[in-house]
Amino acid sequence: MRTRRYLLLSAVSLGNVLLIASLIFCSIPGSFSTRAIILRSIQIYNTHEFLAPHPTIYFFCKGENKTILPDVKERHFFYNFKGKESWQPLTVLSHNKCKRCGLYESDRLKSDDVFDEWELCPDDFLTGISIHYKSKEFNATLECDECKTTHDPTQPPKASGVPYNKKLVAGIVIITVFICIMSTLIVVSAYKYWQRRKRERDQARFLKLFEDGDDIENELGLGL
Ligand SMILES: *[C@@H]1O[C@H](CO)[C@@H](O)[C@H](O)[C@H]1NC(C)=O
Ligand SMILES: *[C@@H]1O[C@H](CO)[C@@H](O)[C@H](O)[C@H]1NC(C)=O
Repeated sequence: MRTRRYLLLSAVSLGNVLLIASLIFCSIPGSFSTRAIILRSIQIYNTHEFLAPHPTIYFFCKGENKTILPDVKERHFFYNFKGKESWQPLTVLSHNKCKRCGLYESDRLKSDDVFDEWELCPDDFLTGISIHYKSKEFNATLECDECKTTHDPTQPPKASGVPYNKKLVAGIVIITVFICIMSTLIVVSAYKYWQRRKRERDQARFLKLFEDGDDIENELGLGL
């Protein structure tokens, strides 16, 4: 009887754990969606460090680490990138927040040279691609696939303003919580019912014992 109870309880707890795990898994793309900015191509028109044969060019956003572009050394050469390079992505944007970023060249004597500094925003990537061009400095093609899906201009704006993704996640959360509560309630009431049945059975057995005892007593009484 005890083993059966434990089996039932552990089966339901396992079910609840699985549900919660699947809920967390499902909500990851919605709540932790990353807007990775990838450098697709770059062409440098000018380097600032005249003495150095191979300039060190890096991308940098305020408050973050420098991303050195190890291959970009030659002027006017058109560098294409797959997006899977070890130093990619350049940075990650959070939801609807811009970052102050720029392209720089290390300078061994004075402060680093600036190709350009600009606000990098998710809205720049409505088509998934953003070209940043500065005359006489550089032309860079940046890509952000995740920015495109959440800010797709071809999609009609949602009435509630809540993206479909978030609605879906909210729905999953509600259903999962509901199922967890329901399964817990069912198990608790099943357990209570089982306890009541056991008590009744025990009582019945106890009474029967008494009756048997009476019988024995009677028999004994008769016997005496
Ligand atoms: C910057 O680099 C250091 C050391 O490589 C690392 O510990 C730190 O987490 C990085 N910071 C960011 C914001 O990436
Ligand atoms: C910059 O590069 C992009 C992508 O290769 C190209 O389409 C665009 O014409 C370039 N712009 C200039 C001003 O060179």
